[in-house]
Amino acid sequence: MANKDLRAWIEEIEAAGELRNVTGAEREEEIGAIVDIHMRKMANPAVLFDQVPGYPKGYRVLANILTSVPRINIALGLAVDTPEIALVEYWRDYMKDAPSIPPTTVNGGPLLENVSTGDDVDILKIPTPRWHEHDGGYYIGTACMVIMKDPDSGWINYGAYRIQAHDRNVASVMTSKGKHGNLILDKYHQRGEPCPIAVVVGMHPAVFMVAGLEIPYGKNEYDCAGGLLGESVEVIEGPATGLPLPANAEIAFEGWVHPGDLIDEGPLGEWTGYYAGGAGKEPAIRIETLMHRNDPILLGAIPAVPPNDDTFYRGTYRAGAVWNQLEAAGVPEVKGVWSHEAGGSRMWLTVSIKQMYGGHSKQAGLIASQCHAGAYANRWVVVVDDDINPANMNDVVWAMCTRFDPLEDLETLRGCWSTRLDPMAYSADDPRNARVVIDACKPWSRRETFPIVARTSKELEEKIRAKWSKDLPPGG
Ligand SMILES: Cc1cc2nc3c(=O)[nH]c(=O)nc-3n(C[C@H](O)[C@H](O)[C@H](O)COP(=O)(O)O)c2cc1C
Repeated sequence: MANKDLRAWIEEIEAAGELRNVTGAEREEEIGAIVDIHMRKMANPAVLFDQVPGYPKGYRVLANILTSVPRINIALGLAVDTPEIALVEYWRDYMKDAPSIPPTTVNGGPLLENVSTGDDVDILKIPTPRWHEHDGGYYIGTACMVIMKDPDSGWINYGAYRIQAHDRNVASVMTSKGKHGNLILDKYHQRGEPCPIAVVVGMHPAVFMVAGLEIPYGKNEYDCAGGLLGESVEVIEGPATGLPLPANAEIAFEGWVHPGDLIDEGPLGEWTGYYAGGAGKEPAIRIETLMHRNDPILLGAIPAVPPNDDTFYRGTYRAGAVWNQLEAAGVPEVKGVWSHEAGGSRMWLTVSIKQMYGGHSKQAGLIASQCHAGAYANRWVVVVDDDINPANMNDVVWAMCTRFDPLEDLETLRGCWSTRLDPMAYSADDPRNARVVIDACKPWSRRETFPIVARTSKELEEKIRAKWSKDLPPGG
C-alpha cells in the first residue's frame, strides 16, 4: 500500500529509541498500570504488548503513543528533535493554510485480511485492557476514529469518542453534546432511523490525531488527515455501511446505533485525571462486521492524570488554535500562547501580549477563555507581558506573584461551556463551569514607572553569549 501505516510508524519510533516491547502482561490490571507508570515520565517510551495471556501471540496492544514530542514529530514527518514550543507554530500554520487532500477509495487492503459478519462477529477476541483499576469495563476505543455520515449532506465526519466493548457484537459510544458525532447521531434518531457507524482502533497516528481535533463542522477529517500525512488516505468502503475505512487500518468494525437503544456505560478514568463523568446510559453499537489485519494491533490513547496521551499534541494544537482565533477576533500583538500540560490541553491557557492600549490584556484574556478553541472545559486563563515566556511556568507564576492586583485583575466567569468530565462542573445535568481570567501584565497606568526587572537584558545577554558561550548553559 502506498499509505504510511501504523506499522511504519512503529518501525520509525523503534529506530529512534522510543519503543519498549513487553510480553506476557495480562489485560485486567497489568497493561493499564504499566502504561500509567510510563505515562508519568516525560522521556518515556511507547509500549507494545504481545503475548497477552488468553490471546493469540501476535495480537498486540500499543499504548502511550503520543506522550513524547519526538513521537509526535515522527508522526507528523517533522525533524525528530523539533521542540514542543515549535509545534505551536506548526499547528498555527496548519490551521491557517490547512493542506486538504481528499481520500481515495480503493478496492481492498490489509484491513480485509480477516472479515467476520453477523453471528461470527467477536470483538472480544481483541485483547482489550481495563485501562485503569476503577474502569467499568474494557475500552477498545480510545485512540479511535468513529466515522459517521451526515444524512442530509453526505458529509463524512470522524472523531475520537470513547468506545466500550460490551459483548461479542455490542459496543457503546459516548459523544458529548455539541460534538459533530453527537449532532449526526441525533439527526438520524430524530427521523426514527438507525445511524450507520464505523469504528477504527488502529491506524497511523497522524490519521488518529485529526480525530481528536476540532475540525470545522462540514469538513471531512480524512481531507485534513491527508494534509497531515502528505498523501491521500486510501479507504475502502465498509461492507455493510459503505462508510470509508483506512485500507491499512489494523482493526475496524461497523454497524448501527438504533434510536433509544441505550446501555450501561462507564465509568472511564478521563483526561482531567478523574472519574468525574461516572457511569450512565450511552448509545449501543450493534456490530455487523469486524475486520482486522493478521496479527492486529489495538492502539490506545489513555486518558489519565495529565500529562496523558493527548496532552502534548492537543496542547500545542490548542495553543496554536487559540492564538489564531485571538488574531481573528482582532486582538493585536499576541506574542505567544501556551496550554499547560497539567491542564490536559484545555484547563490552563497562558497568553502573552505586547500591551498596546488600556484594556488590551483583559480583552485578550476574556476572548481566550471564550473563543471556540479555548472555551470548552477551561478553568484558568493568565495573560502575561511579552517579556514572559508563556511556556515557562516559573516565569508565569512570577508574573502572577508580582504584576497581579487581585482587586483589579481577576475576572470570574460563570455558566461557561464545560463537560460532565470536569470535576468542578455544576452537575452531570448542567455541566457548565465557572472560570477565572487573570491579568498578570504590568498595570497599564503604571507601565512607564513599573519597577525595572532585575534580570540581564536581552541585549546584554546576546553580547555576553557571543563572548562567553563556552562558560554558559545553552540559551533559550
Ligand atoms: C483520546 C481521545 C478520547 C476522546 N474521547 C471523547 C469521548 O469519549 N467523547 C467525546 O465527545 N469526545 C472525546 N474526545 C474529544 C473529541 O475527540 C474531540 O473534541 C473531537 O474534536 C471531536 O470531533 P468532532 O469535532 O468531529 O466532533 C476525545 C479525544 C481524544 C484525543
